[in-house]
Amino acid sequence: MNEEYIEKFKEAKEKILRAQNLTELEEVKRVYLGKQGFLTQILRSIGKMPQEERAKWGRLANEWKEELESLYENKEKELKYLTLQKKLEEEKIDITLPGRRKILGRIHPINQVIEEIVMVFKEMGFQVVYGPELETDYYNFTALNIPMDHPVRESHDSFYIDKEHLLRTQTSPVQIRVMENKKPPLRVVAPGKCYRRDIPDATHSPMFHQIEGLVVDTDVTFAELKGVLTIFAHRLFGKDRKVYFIPSYFPFTEPSAEMYVECGVCKGAGCKACGYSGVLEILGCGMVHPQVFRIVGIDPEKYTGFAFGMGPDRIAMQIYGIDDIRLFYENDVRFLKQF
Ligand code: DAH
Repeated sequence: MNEEYIEKFKEAKEKILRAQNLTELEEVKRVYLGKQGFLTQILRSIGKMPQEERAKWGRLANEWKEELESLYENKEKELKYLTLQKKLEEEKIDITLPGRRKILGRIHPINQVIEEIVMVFKEMGFQVVYGPELETDYYNFTALNIPMDHPVRESHDSFYIDKEHLLRTQTSPVQIRVMENKKPPLRVVAPGKCYRRDIPDATHSPMFHQIEGLVVDTDVTFAELKGVLTIFAHRLFGKDRKVYFIPSYFPFTEPSAEMYVECGVCKGAGCKACGYSGVLEILGCGMVHPQVFRIVGIDPEKYTGFAFGMGPDRIAMQIYGIDDIRLFYENDVRFLKQF
């Protein structure tokens, strides 16, 4: 009997020390230290032992219990540590590897130019407004003093959706929408996409951009138009660029003009970039036609105004020295990445 218990104790010690993992260790604990274990058996049988044996076995069982529990705890710590080390080793992340670079998108060069132009006007107190790309014939032409039989309609080869609706050929209809909805004084710019049935070539794209401008107030003069647009040109191209206004014709302005700036490449001498003219056409402009005011219900005796419209695609070509507008719309990342 004694021998058997001593054997069990040795066996338990051995098994704790040799346990390879936490599961094995748990099992040893269950077998030797649990309810069915030999220590419990000793304590249970003490009552049946001869008087002189009882104290000895009581003490021994407690000593063994303490020793085995302390061995168990140490082993458990050791095994937990080893498990953690193993896990760390296996799941190690090599932080010396170079990271994967995120490729950042950027704003399209045309939109960059639009933003820059719009910012110049915002700083002069203009508000930014937008209009629909699908327009009615009325807003796109008729209300702009371009009646059904007007020859200008032919130059605007339009994409008609049905008899009444078309993709806007210009941003000028936004002028009408603004004047219908807001009372003067007005100072707005309206950037956006326009569409014409042009065959794509180096200078034409069936989808392009315009930025429209409109100022309406009492006592707005042609001098103010020249002043505002000259400041704009100087802010965009630099103060040393000469600015020219040349008489022109638009159905919705009277008088009308075109603004040119001196070519930045040849400084007016003439080169390939400006088609040997020495100047670049930037925009069309003029004093709002009294007939347009009447159409939107603004009294032309009380109010005057000026309007302008420009093509940021062409301006972007000139700024960046791009000789084919199609490059902007082919979306070749190698091209777009440069801006
Ligand atoms: N909408 C005209 C065009 O597409 C450009 C233009 C000219 C707009 C004169 C204007 C303006 O507001 O006053 O050709």
